[in-house]
Amino acid sequence: FAFTPANLEWAQTQIAKFPVGRQASAIIPLLFRAQEQEGWLSRPAIEYVADMLDMPYIRALEVATFYFMFQLAPVGSVAHIQICGTTSCMICGAEDLMKVCKEKIAAHPFELSADGKFSWEEVECLGACANAPMAQIGKDYFEDLTEESLAKLIDDMAAGKTPKAGSQIGRFSSEPKDGLT
Ligand code: FES
Repeated sequence: FAFTPANLEWAQTQIAKFPVGRQASAIIPLLFRAQEQEGWLSRPAIEYVADMLDMPYIRALEVATFYFMFQLAPVGSVAHIQICGTTSCMICGAEDLMKVCKEKIAAHPFELSADGKFSWEEVECLGACANAPMAQIGKDYFEDLTEESLAKLIDDMAAGKTPKAGSQIGRFSSEPKDGLT
């Protein structure tokens, strides 16, 4: 693994934001960029980032395994669906959403669908509890999901469409509104 020239230049600007000797502070953005480049975070990518930051591989691995924003195995080429399974979402139907994932994608978390396009996992609270149950797909939140709306989301993405993020029933959402960040 190696960063593309553009990503390498970007990584160097991130590292330069921190005092000399504290370059390890740039680990999360660098790991995330490595994941964006590869689609997932492989051991060679983690080693590369660790070397770049002059830190032991095990320290970089500790960070990569702590946050579920990092996927340490190949994920679906179209989408990796992270279903929140914490209390609010569990009470409001997370199990039903996971049932849809098991039926439409694969029986177990991190298994790829037969066409390699999708994968899924259960994650801890994503902070959108008011609109439970919800899922994160890429950088977007999809809230107030039902079995039907999640199944349609998957079908739409498989057909190449970009589904609208936010509350699926039109409630106020944690997703930024147009023109706001
Ligand atoms: Fe699911 Fe908080 S419990 S977003």
